[in-house]
This record gives sequence, structure tokens and C-alpha cells, in this order.
Amino acid sequence: MKAVFINASPRKNANTHHLTRALAEELAAHFQGEFLDLMQYRVLRCLGDQTCRERKQCCQEKKDDMAMLCERLAGADLIVFGSPVYFSNVSGLAKDFIDRTLPIYYQRLLKGKMGTSLVTNSGEGGLMAEHSLMEFFKLHNMITIRGIVCTGRHPGEAMDREENIRRVKQLAERILEAAVHPVPAPAGS
Ligand SMILES: Cc1cc2nc3c(=O)[nH]c(=O)nc-3n(C[C@H](O)[C@H](O)[C@H](O)COP(=O)(O)O)c2cc1C
Repeated sequence: MKAVFINASPRKNANTHHLTRALAEELAAHFQGEFLDLMQYRVLRCLGDQTCRERKQCCQEKKDDMAMLCERLAGADLIVFGSPVYFSNVSGLAKDFIDRTLPIYYQRLLKGKMGTSLVTNSGEGGLMAEHSLMEFFKLHNMITIRGIVCTGRHPGEAMDREENIRRVKQLAERILEAAVHPVPAPAGS
């Protein structure tokens, strides 16, 4: 099986970067992992014209890397969405990326895939970020796996905290359980 690990932190040596890699290691025996560190790509903001509904591609198709990134999502069995918590929600980078998945939302290309979240805060406000990511998965008709909220303020600090490592292992167990005992995708258009 294939897993895509999204890191939507804009900073270097990010906690989200390290935690997604730690999760990938836990899953390595069952999932071939690919890392999408969004800051390494050009992701323009959605312009909202919604012509992608008929055209099946974004009006900015040739201007950035989103078409390629969407292809990566469509080729995965599991999407792990990692984001830092910014003002109780996901980062702006994560939200721009989410909005730009509208063309593949219209084509239902993520239907039936597994999705989970890994959010990192410095002490408060992870639940809304987690909720936003779960709603993203549900709107794409994906199978949701309850995510984790990890804590760490400074770059890389989250890896020094045992409770974060424990949460990563728990999430890996939940993912493997869902992958071994898959449930049907939610009904919907
Ligand atoms: C713009 C901004 C907003 C933030 N808002 C919150 C917040 O609401 N709650 C919180 O606990 N931490 C907040 N933080 C701290 C980050 O979530 C925290 O440092 C986290 O470890 C960053 O993850 P990263 O290393 O993967 O970038 C904020 C940081 C920034 C830059």
C-alpha cells in the first residue's frame, strides 16, 4: 500500500516534518511512503471561479505544482495530513492546499481512501485543526482515522517528548487496524 505524508509547516526543521517521518517509520513494513513537504512546492491560492467543475482541471493548472500534488494524493491508499496549529486551526499553507483540491473533489478521486491527521501545537488549540482535516477527508468521501495532537514549541522539540512518540505509535496502530479491516466509504454523491 502507498501512503502520502503531507507536511504543511512552512518552517525548517518543523515538528510536523519530524513527526510525519516517525509515523512513516512505524508504518514502513506495510506502507510505501512518500513525503510532500508543501513548502518545497509552489501552491497558489484558489481563485474561487469553480470552472474546475466542468474543466476537470484548475484554472491555474500550469502555474504551480498542484496538479502533480493532486496526482500523488490520487495514487495513495492513505493520506496523512500533518499541519502545525495556527490560531487554533491548520496553517495557511494547509488551507491553500486543501482549497486547491477542488478539481479532484469534483472528480471524486479520493473516494474510499484512508485519511488521518497529525497536528502540532505549542500547548493549546489542536482540536479545531484536527476537525478541519477530518471534514476535509469526509467531504472527499474518504475513510477517516482519528488523528493525534502533538506538542512542541521550538523546531524539532516535539521529538524529545515521550508522549508525542507514544501518540505516533498509537496512530500507527489505528492506521494498521483500519488498513487490515477496511470499512466501506461513506455513501454520497
Ligand atoms: C502564526 C502562528 C500561530 C500559532 N498559533 C498557535 C495556537 O493557536 N496554539 C498553539 O498551541 N500553538 C500555536 N502556534 C505554535 C505552533 O503551533 C507550534 O510552534 C508548533 O510546534 C509548530 O509546528 P511546526 O514546528 O511543525 O511548524 C502558532 C505558531 C504560529 C507561527
